[in-house]
Amino acid sequence: MKGRVFSGARPTGRQHIGNYLGAIQNYVKLQDDYDCIYCIVDIHALTTLEATPMKSGLQENIHEMMLDWLAAGLDPQRSILFVQSHVPQVMELHTLLSMVTPLGWLTRVATFKEKARMQPDNINYGLVGYPVLMTADIVLYKANIVPVGEDQLPHLELAREIVRRFHYLFGPTFPEPQAKLTNAPLVLGLDGVNKMSKSLNNDIELAASPEDTRERVISAFTDPARRYRSDPGHPEVCNVYRLHSFYNPERLGELGAECRSAGIGCVECKEALARSINKELEPFRERRAELAARPGYVKEVIADGARRASAIATETLTEVKQKMGLISRQVIPD
Ligand code: TYM
Repeated sequence: MKGRVFSGARPTGRQHIGNYLGAIQNYVKLQDDYDCIYCIVDIHALTTLEATPMKSGLQENIHEMMLDWLAAGLDPQRSILFVQSHVPQVMELHTLLSMVTPLGWLTRVATFKEKARMQPDNINYGLVGYPVLMTADIVLYKANIVPVGEDQLPHLELAREIVRRFHYLFGPTFPEPQAKLTNAPLVLGLDGVNKMSKSLNNDIELAASPEDTRERVISAFTDPARRYRSDPGHPEVCNVYRLHSFYNPERLGELGAECRSAGIGCVECKEALARSINKELEPFRERRAELAARPGYVKEVIADGARRASAIATETLTEVKQKMGLISRQVIPD
């Protein structure tokens, strides 16, 4: 039997190159060898809605994000693509798993502490339980592989702990999910310091126009020691150089040497990066425009995904309820 892959992402709308390099490229590749399930986690998004209000509505964000996934190569014939709240069994499993998860495990998670700092007036119950819902997402489908960026590793560690505790109390039921990283597990944003993220406005959208992409890249921070064109640079501290390693791997040595000797200026270096990103994304952008022109297509994909995901979810939930003693193990014939 093929292994099963699950991953989720919050409906932040159009995806950025950090999402792609850190996660989506693996979602696409894994389709060749595994049964894959990918989910837009709209319920998770509600935990931070007050602190980071969305520019557009949830439904529009889901639509834009699914277009990106499909254009990037997620194939609804091979993978299940769905929206978290459309398979409500996950909320039931979340409640059941919350009974085996000590509160101390959750309040210690670094992402919880950071979010609590960001929204001190709304440290809601859902925020504390965020990793429990994430565990429910994964184990509801008995996934063993979870492609994610590095920032999600603490959540995966906790998921394994919850699974182990469930097994100790009720017997073996789920695989222990393992994270799968790409060669770019943490992509920094245009500020060169923070993780690329939509909320920090330091991102480059996959679906941006070539001109917008160029403008964004030109605004990127480089080596602060290079104040004048003639200053020699330090590529190892420069995020533009790091981005070249993904979009221009064959020219990396040359670019590094030219930066160190001040043979190339930061603007030229950024122009070259923008050209490479635009070239790489051209087929993606064409596919995206074609898909966007098909009325109702995204809705069909997510309705079909919910039907297929729901069948698996119901089976797992029944097994969990039996193990926890909520329903009898024998099915009583009527
Ligand atoms: P989210 O929505 O923040 O991000 C989606 C995926 O993109 C990766 N990512 C990055 N990777 C590298 N560099 C970056 N700058 C970057 N920004 C984002 C993330 O690591 C992630 O893989 N909690 C999750 C969603 C989730 C989930 C799940 C994931 C809910 N349930 C179950 C896996 C399994 C999140 O907020 O991802």
